[in-house]
Amino acid sequence: MLSGNYKMTAQTMFGLEEVLAAELRKLGAREVEQHNRAVSFVGDIGFMYKANLCLYTALRILVPVKTFSVRNEQDLYDEIKKIDWETYMGVDDTLAVNCSLNSELFNHSQFLSQKTKDAVVDQFREKHQKRPSVDLDQPTLRIHLFVSQDTCMVSLDSSGESLHKRGYRDMTNLAPINEVLAAGIVKLTGWDGYRNFVDPMCGSGTILIEAALQALSIPAGYYRKSFGFMRWKNFDETLWNKILDAAVAKIKEGDKVKLLGGEISKNVARKAVVNIHEAKVDDVVTIRTAAFDDLEVPAGGGILVINPPYGERMDKDEDIMALYKSIGDTLKKKWAGYEAWIITSNMEAAKAIRLDPSRKIKLFNGALECRLLKFELYSGTRRKDKLAEQS
Ligand SMILES: C[S@@+](CC[C@H](N)C(=O)[O-])C[C@H]1O[C@@H](n2cnc3c(N)ncnc32)[C@H](O)[C@@H]1O
Repeated sequence: MLSGNYKMTAQTMFGLEEVLAAELRKLGAREVEQHNRAVSFVGDIGFMYKANLCLYTALRILVPVKTFSVRNEQDLYDEIKKIDWETYMGVDDTLAVNCSLNSELFNHSQFLSQKTKDAVVDQFREKHQKRPSVDLDQPTLRIHLFVSQDTCMVSLDSSGESLHKRGYRDMTNLAPINEVLAAGIVKLTGWDGYRNFVDPMCGSGTILIEAALQALSIPAGYYRKSFGFMRWKNFDETLWNKILDAAVAKIKEGDKVKLLGGEISKNVARKAVVNIHEAKVDDVVTIRTAAFDDLEVPAGGGILVINPPYGERMDKDEDIMALYKSIGDTLKKKWAGYEAWIITSNMEAAKAIRLDPSRKIKLFNGALECRLLKFELYSGTRRKDKLAEQS
């Protein structure tokens, strides 16, 4: 089972394919190719362990088993039954099936998952008069179907729980950003790990924690207790420990790393402090309870990342417009020498910032289509803005 090199797929979010491809290349993957919300690559089983442990911007790592064409549910059932499932699991093990569907031939992904599960279970029952059971949370084997028009790709999900579940965060506020999105934003800013990094509306602290993990080379999955592949028949614990030890040996001391978070709500700021402590990066991240316009500006310039409220929960439009206007005013008044990156789904409110973005990157925060806007804050920005206001 899975010896030598094979092609795998790392799933990610829209807009993060390029940063994930770069991460994979840096980690040593071969034949890296970008797709929609995914990157394929070639590596061996040790590399699969390493990818799960180290990648900041991957959601799951899929190991393909078989690709075939399907016209209807019966085709799917028959093809799934042809795969020798005993190679991957025993009758006393458990399974779960997930399906992503992009096809006019089928309506319900859940029905395809059900059919797949039936085919696997029936194969065992016919051989052993006994069937494996379903466990949606911690199955021995998580089977993944990707049906695109009439092509079905069957893979094994080596990650188990999605890789955005890092294991460092228990307490959340109302709108925490997904860890993989936060990590991707940090990568997109091109932060070098040494300049100042500030998140002045830090909420539960996700962006700061992800930035700190990257700067210190703490593997993204370092705090996770388990990965899907650990429950597989062929799990090689010695190899895993070797991969883990090698990654841990690369963790850096944080003498020169400095991150600052601001948060207007005392309660939320308290949660950020707890999360930062849980992630063991409290020696490099400082949290202040302060409104953005009162936050101290660390000298020397750097990167500012802001994930402001988008106005979804605000009662009045004027409030959100006023907030974005004040963000723009503060940037112009106090943050010269910084590059500011703002992620928002509210493009009307973004206009109230009254600065021209030098880049706009399309991303999704959950179901919300967003733009990550880059603003370069030169010392002259304020004067130019004043002149523009006067003319
Ligand atoms: C969308 S949330 C940020 C979520 C955060 N990225 C996380 O992962 O938890 C926006 C945060 O900005 C804070 N906030 C709103 N206005 C602020 C202001 N003027 N100054 C500082 N923080 C502010 C809110 O209290 C809220 O926690």
